[in-house]
Amino acid sequence: MGDAGMKNQVITVSPMSAYTGAEISGVDLTKPLSDQARSEIRQAINEWGAVFFREQELTPAQQLAFARQFGTTEEDTHVSNMTGVDGLPDVKEVVREADEVRNIGGFWHMDQSFYDLPSCFSVLYARELPPNGGDTMFSHLSAAYDALSTALEKLSGVHVRAHADSAAINAAASGLSFEYYVESRKRFGGIEATHPIVAMHPESGRKVLYFSPVYTDRFDGWTRDESLPLMKYLTGILGKPEHTCRFRWQEGSMAMWDNRAVVHYALDDYTGHRRLMHRVTVNGPWLEPCPKTT
Ligand code: SIN
Repeated sequence: MGDAGMKNQVITVSPMSAYTGAEISGVDLTKPLSDQARSEIRQAINEWGAVFFREQELTPAQQLAFARQFGTTEEDTHVSNMTGVDGLPDVKEVVREADEVRNIGGFWHMDQSFYDLPSCFSVLYARELPPNGGDTMFSHLSAAYDALSTALEKLSGVHVRAHADSAAINAAASGLSFEYYVESRKRFGGIEATHPIVAMHPESGRKVLYFSPVYTDRFDGWTRDESLPLMKYLTGILGKPEHTCRFRWQEGSMAMWDNRAVVHYALDDYTGHRRLMHRVTVNGPWLEPCPKTT
């Protein structure tokens, strides 16, 4: 395969690394997708976990219409502290102002893993970007699984909502007030969910390591202190450069990823500049338990 990528009937898929991420060209996202185009995009996501489109001029309503071709969108499925835009509650602003230090999503995570039924796909569109920096990294959870021993299949992880804000508040010199933190703990503190550490993707049939170093608080039945050494090891596996890709945003870029197949990480390297993204999340069938091994 050369620079031209892999040509399907409608789209061309250009992988960005050995395991994770592919750029897609040959499709105009302002228009409804043909069944063939939708199925080719789904296939590319099943293979690469995250796909990226460039030079798409989308209104928030068009972004939402694109996402709804892959499933129902979030509506009131989950409580959120992000604002909806243009009277569209499902199109959330992920914004960091020039004078803010807090970095939303600046750690390996999958969206909404602290719910029993987390978001399936996330669709993120770049509206305003810093002059440089602000890239997003992705790491494939099947590449992580393949690098580990099968003994992990016995474990479950407890994912805790409050850790999202703890991570933000602990960030060096965070601009968030202590009141914000207390308020957030009150609102989201009780939200947590337990998921198997290894599960099977319902479409690709591949096993994944379902783990986030921040949202996963501990292994079920273990104390946090007992969990931390293994969690640290798994974090290193997620961050292994070979398992990742790095997407450099341009205005008009859109990413779509499968939260059952990849974790992502918003880089914190553009202090002093504004970055504005619009995010829509799509519901879908969740990971399946792994078939029992003897
Ligand atoms: C997110 O964590 O969903 C946002 C990622 C980003 O802003 O790059």
